[in-house]
Amino acid sequence: MADIKEEFQKRFQKKPDHIFFSPGRVNLIGEHIDYNGGKVMPCAIHLGTYLAISKNTDKVFRFQCLNFSETAELHFQNSYTKSGKEWFNYPLGILDQVLSLGHSVSGLDMVFDGTLPIGAGLSSSASIEVLMAYALDQLFQLNISKIDIALLCKKVENEFIGVNCGIMDQFAVTFGEKNKAILLDCDSLEYELLPFDTGNYSLVIINTNKTRSLADSKYNERFTECGMALKALKKEVDAKNLCDIDIQTFQSYKYLIKDAVLEKRALHVISENFRVKEAAKLLNENKLEEFGQLMYQSHQSLKELYEVSGIELDTIVGFCKDYVGCIGARMTGAGFGGCAIALVDKSRMDDFTNRLVEFYKEKNGHKPTVFASEIGNGVRQIS
Ligand code: GLA
Repeated sequence: MADIKEEFQKRFQKKPDHIFFSPGRVNLIGEHIDYNGGKVMPCAIHLGTYLAISKNTDKVFRFQCLNFSETAELHFQNSYTKSGKEWFNYPLGILDQVLSLGHSVSGLDMVFDGTLPIGAGLSSSASIEVLMAYALDQLFQLNISKIDIALLCKKVENEFIGVNCGIMDQFAVTFGEKNKAILLDCDSLEYELLPFDTGNYSLVIINTNKTRSLADSKYNERFTECGMALKALKKEVDAKNLCDIDIQTFQSYKYLIKDAVLEKRALHVISENFRVKEAAKLLNENKLEEFGQLMYQSHQSLKELYEVSGIELDTIVGFCKDYVGCIGARMTGAGFGGCAIALVDKSRMDDFTNRLVEFYKEKNGHKPTVFASEIGNGVRQIS
């Protein structure tokens, strides 16, 4: 923390007025479900993004970041558009959205600093979006409710950034609570906090360290495929979302889809949504081992039916399945690289890490990063 304050002082010759923090997230189960209107189970993690911020009187928005050298210095306008792929487009999109809602803000000096690996599927983008929205809300007393913060950030990701993501990441980052999993209904936006007591196990994050270059286009492709499958099913089935359909109904009407790939996509979505409901029951009963089995089933479905895994993620989950002391593992987030999560016996953590790193390196030629994660709170002001 000292660093971001010092850096702010160095760059702007004054102390920051406030520091805010917003976490990243992992999704325990319920993948590629949010944009299909079903249930997901994410939680906020201890890593995230910090923002040191002060108002200024010169009507300028100064964006700086300790993780990237690119900076932006923008004079006051009524709206902004995305320029290039630089990191500051995320907070800029939020600013644009807040201005378009008619809120008035002053100029700002900002330094961001992230502890999340960027683009690794731990929601570094939702983290910075929610951070900016929350900071603006607090600094200018905009009275935007937490749910509206999450929705506003999703809108920015969809319209300003151009990714058709669902609400899961922004919601998790906003509403996360320590040692709780969020059971979120992505259609009604009702949610429940479930106890996530991992006992003798650690929730471990394994970063494939693979660049997810095609992630956005493949993600949008899956989004479209689900829409097409739903459209076909709707000829006979009364459903607003794919997740409104149960497995039996799907089996009876899948002939309407007439495309094997779309049928596989829909089967993943419908069975994964069912798994989330089962997983919630198991967490409430503290049956972690059975919960772990559902994680493995989820991964299998994402690999075979939804086809969003990949050799790196499969190497990790394959290793986990054979490792005594690991009771569950799966890819988390959009896939195509990124991270896997696993539940690992705490007393075997060092051995697990050493063996996994060796095994993975042998197969993929580079090392993964392995660390135990804490389940933390959502966005907040630190000082
Ligand atoms: C990304 C998106 C989320 C969700 C997941 C897949 O993280 O941002 O909205 O769709 O992928 O479950």
